[in-house]
Amino acid sequence: MTDLLDRLRDAVGDAHVLTSDEDLAAYVVDWTGVHAGQALAVVRPASTEEVAAVVAACHGAGVAIVPQGGNTGLVGGGVPDASGSQVVLSLARMRTIREVDPVAGTITVDAGVVLADVQAAAAEAGRLFPMSLGSEGSCTIGGNLATNAGGTAVLRYGMTRELALGLEVVLPDGRVWDGLRGLRKDNTGYDLTQVFVGSEGTLGVITGAILRLFPPTPRHATAWVAVPSVAAAVSLLALAQQHAGVHLSTFEIANRQAIELVLAHLPGAVDPLSEPSDWYVLVELAGSESDDGLDEALETVLGAAVEEGHASDAAIAGSPAQRSALWALREGISEVQKVEGATLKQDVTLPIADLAEWTDAMGPRLQEILPGVRPVTYGHVGDGNLHYNLNAPVGDDDALRAAAADLSTAIYDAVASAHGSISAEHGLGRTKAAAAASYKSEVEVDLMRAVKEALDPEGLMNPGVLLPPD
Ligand code: FAD
Ligand code: MLT
Ligand code: ZN
Repeated sequence: MTDLLDRLRDAVGDAHVLTSDEDLAAYVVDWTGVHAGQALAVVRPASTEEVAAVVAACHGAGVAIVPQGGNTGLVGGGVPDASGSQVVLSLARMRTIREVDPVAGTITVDAGVVLADVQAAAAEAGRLFPMSLGSEGSCTIGGNLATNAGGTAVLRYGMTRELALGLEVVLPDGRVWDGLRGLRKDNTGYDLTQVFVGSEGTLGVITGAILRLFPPTPRHATAWVAVPSVAAAVSLLALAQQHAGVHLSTFEIANRQAIELVLAHLPGAVDPLSEPSDWYVLVELAGSESDDGLDEALETVLGAAVEEGHASDAAIAGSPAQRSALWALREGISEVQKVEGATLKQDVTLPIADLAEWTDAMGPRLQEILPGVRPVTYGHVGDGNLHYNLNAPVGDDDALRAAAADLSTAIYDAVASAHGSISAEHGLGRTKAAAAASYKSEVEVDLMRAVKEALDPEGLMNPGVLLPPD
């Protein structure tokens, strides 16, 4: 391995090949603290050419690579396994915004650019890059593409997949595929960009991307709405679609348990409503400078919802500060769950029509498995996506850890029965690879393995992630 380390040092410089335990620490444990491994080295290339040299060196030595962006992934896909034989390839030094073309509506960036910096560069050019995640201050565009990230703007703009026009990728043998074309129309064969989106580092290293931009939406109308049930939230969604049309940009749900944790642990958080409710919805309409009438549309939606019994109360943001405070209640949930203690992350999608029945049935089923378990349920209900996360019974983190496999299986089985998905937006990583394969048909798993085999015949790109070992 000394030879490989020497080649890596030649490729990126001594300072960017990290091998000491102290230097590796931040790269081998994920954001949740649950997924941890060991690495032979962490390599930090600064350009596509350097990435290609690193990948070629690892390919020559038969050493596996784990690409890593901001290390905010929630399924253990961006950290190495326990073997200590893998190289973590961090994109953290590739932070250049290569080009912004407001008229074509495109932005071209290095894969290591942090999502918030892409948003800021778009805004500076008078455009909107709509993707928005709670982790946007540290996740990278390469990680977003590799996981096909979702977030709070999917309802209007789609998943990362729909924002990606072209990619630059270093292939597992070190060759570079330059697919950085911003064409809206290009029917010249298989869509290779989409093969790499959502591939979780298992097919190559994304080094650059050309992404779609949209007109800015500086006007907002935002409300925090108390709703009695998930069924009521779905009815409210229908009203919002009917009365707000294209302006509906966000429709997020949270249960009371989630908000209680936010109120307990997030400094400055205040309940905007006087009475507690079992469920809440954050609804936002967004429009351009010339879009008058957002406030009126929101009031129409809320008025109809109260009249029809789908909402009991609402707080409407009257200022940017109030809007931020309402968003903080939603965006703070992941963070406060971690503060509260052991958490079992879930990320399911269901047909919207089945959300209410599914959620109502799940609670009692989980109590049978682990009495006192606390579902902290929230997420992108407008997309049918619930983070059906679980916190431990108060003071008993070990009980949650012991029951985690049974709880997950109960949730996955119920999702499969409802024709949903066990990973809506976080990906499969190491955590869900085996489970996902077990719920897919043999044909589907064969096709996925054929893609992997064709692009990475030696199996050196992020082995064990997305597809379980054979
Ligand atoms: P990493 O965690 O570093 O890596 C994730 C995966 O992508 C790994 O498999 C890794 O190998 C691969 N990868 C990373 N970079 C590359 C590359 N350049 N080339 C090839 N493969 C690569 N996710 C959502 O979808 N929606 C949310 O609303 C959301 N909210 C979040 C809120 C919080 C507080 C946190 C901590 C996470 C949240 N996430 C959410 C999860 C996470 O932020 C996303 O999955 C994000 O896309 C990961 O980006 P990253 O740069 O941190 O990737
Ligand atoms: C979110 O939407 O806040 C995250 O995707 C969910 C999570 O952290 O579990
Ligand atoms: Zn989410």
